[in-house]
Amino acid sequence: MKTIKRKKETAVILPYAVSKEAVDFCIETAGPAHTLWINEICEVTLLSAIARGTGISGRSPELLKEKMKKGEAVIAFTADGRWAGFSFISSWENGRYVSNSGLIVAPDFRHTGLAKKIKRKIFELSIQKYPNAKIFSLTTGLAVMKMNHELGFEPVTYSELPGDEEFWDNCKTCVNCPILKSKDRKNCLCTAMLYDPKNIQI
Ligand SMILES: CC(C)(COP(=O)(O)OP(=O)(O)OC[C@H]1O[C@@H](n2cnc3c(N)ncnc32)[C@H](O)[C@@H]1OP(=O)(O)O)[C@@H](O)C(=O)NCCC(=O)NCCS
Repeated sequence: MKTIKRKKETAVILPYAVSKEAVDFCIETAGPAHTLWINEICEVTLLSAIARGTGISGRSPELLKEKMKKGEAVIAFTADGRWAGFSFISSWENGRYVSNSGLIVAPDFRHTGLAKKIKRKIFELSIQKYPNAKIFSLTTGLAVMKMNHELGFEPVTYSELPGDEEFWDNCKTCVNCPILKSKDRKNCLCTAMLYDPKNIQI
C-alpha cells in the first residue's frame, strides 16, 4: 500500500506502508503467553523467504514454542496489539556461542526502524543470558549486516562458528543448503558475523 503525503507544497510518494514516526512498538522478551502468535510468525517468515529467494532458514512451530517457553526470544507488538516482529537466540557448544536468528518484521512495519530495535534487544538478551559467549549471526541480507556491524559484529569465516551438527541442521530448510554441502560447510552465500566479548574494550 502506498500513501501520499503533502510536504512543502509537494506531493511525496512514500515507498512503504508506514512512515517512521507513525508506529510505537512494544518489544519484550517472549514467554509462554506468546505461543498463540507462532503460526503468524512462521507463515510470514516462509512467505518472506519465498519472496526474497536468497535464503532464509525455515523455523518450525515447535522450535519457536521452545524458545518462547525458555525466554530465548523477543517479540514486538504495535500499541494496539498487532504482532510486528520476532527474533530468537540459541546457545551452542555448552554456551560458548550464541546465535541470533529468525529476525522477521511483519511487512506492514518494515522500514520503520523496528528491526534495529529488535536486534538490539535480542543482542542484550544474548549478553544477559550468556555473558561470556561469542554471539554470531548468519545472513545474506544487507539490512542485517548493517545492523550487526553497528552492534560490534565483525565478518568471520565459517571456521569461527560452532561445529555442532545440530547447528548446521538448521540450514537444511534454506534454498542454499546444496551449496553449503558442496562446500563441505566451509562456505556458503551467507556472511557470518561474530561479536566476541573478549575483543571489546570497556
Ligand atoms: C530484514 C528486515 C528484518 C528489516 O526490517 P526493517 O524493520 O525494515 O528494518 P529497519 O527499518 O530497522 O532498518 C534497519 C537498517 O536496515 C536497512 N534496511 C532495511 N531493509 C533493507 C533492505 N531491504 N535492503 C537494504 N537495507 C535495508 C535500513 O535502511 C536501516 O539502515 P540505516 O540504519 O542505515 O538506515 C525485514 O525486511 C524482514 O523481515 N525481511 C524478511 C526476513 C529477513 O530477511 N530476515 C533476515 C534474515 S537474516
